[in-house]
Amino acid sequence: MQPSRVFIVGSGVVGTATGTGLLAAGNTVTFIDISMPRVRHLQAQGLDARTELDLASEPDSFIFLTLPTPNVGWRYDLGAFTAGTAAVGRALAGSSAQHTVVVRSTVSPGTTEGLVRPVLEENSGMTAGEGFRLASNPEFLRAVSAAEDFSHPWMTVIASRDPQAVARLRGLLEPFGGEMRTFSDPAEAEFIKCAHNIFNATKISFWNEMWLVAQKIGLDLDPIAATVAKSAEGSINPQYGIRGGAPYGGVCLPKDTCGFLGYSDAIGVDMPLLRAVVETNNRLESVVKQEVEAAGKAASGIKTA
Ligand SMILES: NC(=O)c1ccc[n+]([C@@H]2O[C@H](COP(=O)([O-])OP(=O)(O)OC[C@H]3O[C@@H](n4cnc5c(N)ncnc54)[C@H](O)[C@@H]3O)[C@@H](O)[C@H]2O)c1
Repeated sequence: MQPSRVFIVGSGVVGTATGTGLLAAGNTVTFIDISMPRVRHLQAQGLDARTELDLASEPDSFIFLTLPTPNVGWRYDLGAFTAGTAAVGRALAGSSAQHTVVVRSTVSPGTTEGLVRPVLEENSGMTAGEGFRLASNPEFLRAVSAAEDFSHPWMTVIASRDPQAVARLRGLLEPFGGEMRTFSDPAEAEFIKCAHNIFNATKISFWNEMWLVAQKIGLDLDPIAATVAKSAEGSINPQYGIRGGAPYGGVCLPKDTCGFLGYSDAIGVDMPLLRAVVETNNRLESVVKQEVEAAGKAASGIKTA
C-alpha cells in the first residue's frame, strides 16, 4: 500500500495515538494542536507538530478530527470541536487537492452531517463529496493503553455517504487488523460509539448497584459477579438481548426484577437502575402493544387517526 499524507487536528490522547500509529505504519503525519505546550511536547519527541493547518502545497490527505468533545451537564460542549473544524474548512479553501476529513472524536448521532459538513462547506466554499470527502471513524481505544489499542484494534468502524471515502479509509486502516465494519450513514458510526460507551457505563453501574446490596447483607460481590459473568447469557452470548423493540417476557425476568426490587427496598437499598430496567421494559411493552393494535386496525381497514 502507498503511504498516505495524514494530518491530526487535536493532538491529545486520541490524536497522538492515532498519529503515532499511522506514522509507525509508514505514513507521513503532521500533528496540529492549538496548545503551544502540547506542540512543543510533540516536537521534543521528534514529531512534526504545528499550531496551524496549512494544506496549500499538500497532496490528497486524510485529516483526522480528534478534537475534544466534553460534556457540560446534559449536553456536549462542541465549542472547541467546531472551532477546530472551521479551521480545517479554511485550510481546505487554500488547497486544490481532494482531502478526506475524518471525524474521530466521539459525537452524538448526526453531528458529522449536521455540524461538521456545513461548517466545512461554509469555511471552504466547497461541497462535501465534490471538493472534499467526509467520513466518520470513531475511536474505541482506552486511555490507559491508547497507543497499543490503536495499533491492534479489535473493531474498526467506518461510515460515509461517499464509497470512495470508505474505500480510502479501509486502505489506510486495514493493515492494523481486527474486524472492520462499514456503513453508509455517518450517524450509524456515531451511534455505535455512543452506545459502546453507554453500554460499558451501564454494566459498571449495574454491578456497583449489586455491590451495594452485597455490602448491605455482608457478602463479597467479587466471586458472585465473576460467576454471573460466566453464567448469564447476557454476559456470554454477544447476540443475547441486542434486538431493539422486543421487551423481555416469560416468567423469570419480570418476576425476579420486580421481586428483587421489593427485597432491596425491604433491606433499605435503593436500586434506581433496576427500577429503570423495569420501567423501560413496561414502556416497551405498551409501545409494542400499540404497534400491534395499529397494525391490526390497518390490516382490517379501520382508521386510527
Ligand atoms: N481519551 C480517550 O480514551 C478517548 C477514547 C476514544 C474516544 N475519545 C474521544 O476522542 C476525542 C478527543 O479526546 P482526547 O481524550 O484525545 O482529548 P484531549 O483533551 O486529550 O485532546 C484534545 C486536544 O485537542 C486540542 N485542541 C483543542 N481545541 C483545538 C483546536 N481548535 N484546534 C486544534 N487542537 C485543539 C487540545 O489542546 C488537546 O491537545 C473526544 O471526542 C473523546 O471523547 C477519547
